[in-house]
Amino acid sequence: MCAIELEPVITTQRLRLRKPRRSDAAQLATYANDFDVARMTTAMPYPYGVEHAEGFLEKASEADPANEAVFVIDHPEHGAIGVLGFHAKDGGEREMGYWIGRPHWGEGFATEAAQGALVWAHQAWGRRYMRAGHFADNPASGQVLCKAGFLYTGDVELRSSVARGGRATPTRMMVWLA
Ligand SMILES: CC(C)(COP(=O)(O)OP(=O)(O)OC[C@H]1O[C@@H](n2cnc3c(N)ncnc32)[C@H](O)[C@@H]1OP(=O)(O)O)[C@@H](O)C(=O)NCCC(=O)NCCS
Repeated sequence: MCAIELEPVITTQRLRLRKPRRSDAAQLATYANDFDVARMTTAMPYPYGVEHAEGFLEKASEADPANEAVFVIDHPEHGAIGVLGFHAKDGGEREMGYWIGRPHWGEGFATEAAQGALVWAHQAWGRRYMRAGHFADNPASGQVLCKAGFLYTGDVELRSSVARGGRATPTRMMVWLA
């Protein structure tokens, strides 16, 4: 059985995925305070202030490392450019979620982070199975998940988005197998 790493670091070709720090709050809040980021997630509010980032980082620090993991996506030049996490859902299944700040879209960072994180989840947790979902009006995220090796299950769930005022939004479910 693998020992659980308390502060795992994932190194990819251009990025480091590391444990969040309180000092990340201001930069993450700057990127997260963007409706086109927040509306594609279930949990991010909009507007998104430093207090929201601090609350998120506080909660992340309390996560059970055997079940959940939150990483800041760190770029050597730009610093914290986004977040990627694995969250335990009801029933124990884990799902991957992520976002990247708008100035850094389209450079393959989400795909690179997701690929590295999935390898880590497989090695650290022995995960052979991971779920993810994207809102049906977010084809860019679907493309990221496809490039990371996810396949569509055909299930469409209704999930609410805080930034969209809690509106139930069709969510295309996907699965990754190691
Ligand atoms: C979705 C998101 C994570 C993508 O990050 P990124 O670093 O730009 O992603 P990548 O560069 O790795 O890949 C993006 C892919 O989407 C494609 N894409 C972008 N806009 C698209 C669109 N409107 N329709 C279809 N594909 C699109 C890009 O062409 C690219 O694919 P390619 O490399 O095959 O050309 C980023 O836009 C984001 O954070 N959005 C807001 C939050 C979010 O959506 N989080 C995911 C929730 S499920």
